Amino acid sequence: MDTLVRLLQLLVLLLTLPLLPMALLGCWRPLCKSHFPYLIAVLTAKSSYKMESKKWELFGQIEGFMGASAKVELLDLGCGTGASFQFYPAGCRITCLDPNPHFEKFLVKSMAENRHLQHEHERFVVAPGEDMIQLVDGSMDVVVSTLVLCSVQSPRRVLQEVQRVLRPGGMFFFWEHVAEPRGSWAFLWQQVLQPTWKLIGDGCCLIGETWKDLENAQFSQLQMERQPPAFRW
Ligand SMILES: C[S@@+](CC[C@H](N)C(=O)[O-])C[C@H]1O[C@@H](n2cnc3c(N)ncnc32)[C@H](O)[C@@H]1O
Repeated sequence: MDTLVRLLQLLVLLLTLPLLPMALLGCWRPLCKSHFPYLIAVLTAKSSYKMESKKWELFGQIEGFMGASAKVELLDLGCGTGASFQFYPAGCRITCLDPNPHFEKFLVKSMAENRHLQHEHERFVVAPGEDMIQLVDGSMDVVVSTLVLCSVQSPRRVLQEVQRVLRPGGMFFFWEHVAEPRGSWAFLWQQVLQPTWKLIGDGCCLIGETWKDLENAQFSQLQMERQPPAFRW
């Protein structure tokens, strides 16, 4: 099985042959960074309806979390294009953070389309989740991460930072894609596509076992639910 996976990986990689020398010479990464937001915008437009009901259910919980002030400080970690804005309830004051500055154009558009939200830091904080130095300890009521932990260098450090910026009793909402069960066809295809997708998808890992990082992070309470993949294989 391992040999088959290696062979198929090589075949898929060959399809992206022109990218390999660029990656080796170090010129692919900056190009990928500037084009990745366009790819995400297209993928979001194509798949958001599949995630809608789950996002309404997930982020609907934020409303019940609002105190007498009816305000919530919310950090959208790895905000990308701002695909989750429409699902946050009114009264949320959003801080957007992403290491890729090329998302700004998309983010500004999403902010303009979601006037029910207030936005902190005029536009957004350009920083990695591993080092959110601009954000004060205990300053957030809620942190949200959707499809982000697959792309970070160190999920462990990101989760430590999440715990640092959350106030005591604050909540972390996450929604991540992870490795399918070992031995399944879906996992085989994830392995096959992994090297190529990592290149195209700005470092995104298809076979991450993010649930382990979440379990190890020692949140005071942890509620996780495994969903069938949004994209069927
Ligand atoms: C697949 S996109 C998801 C964007 C958005 N959260 C969504 O749901 O559409 C992954 C995002 O994670 C961001 N990202 C990559 N590395 C990161 C890091 N170390 N810390 C925070 N965000 C990161 C990327 O720039 C990108 O915006």
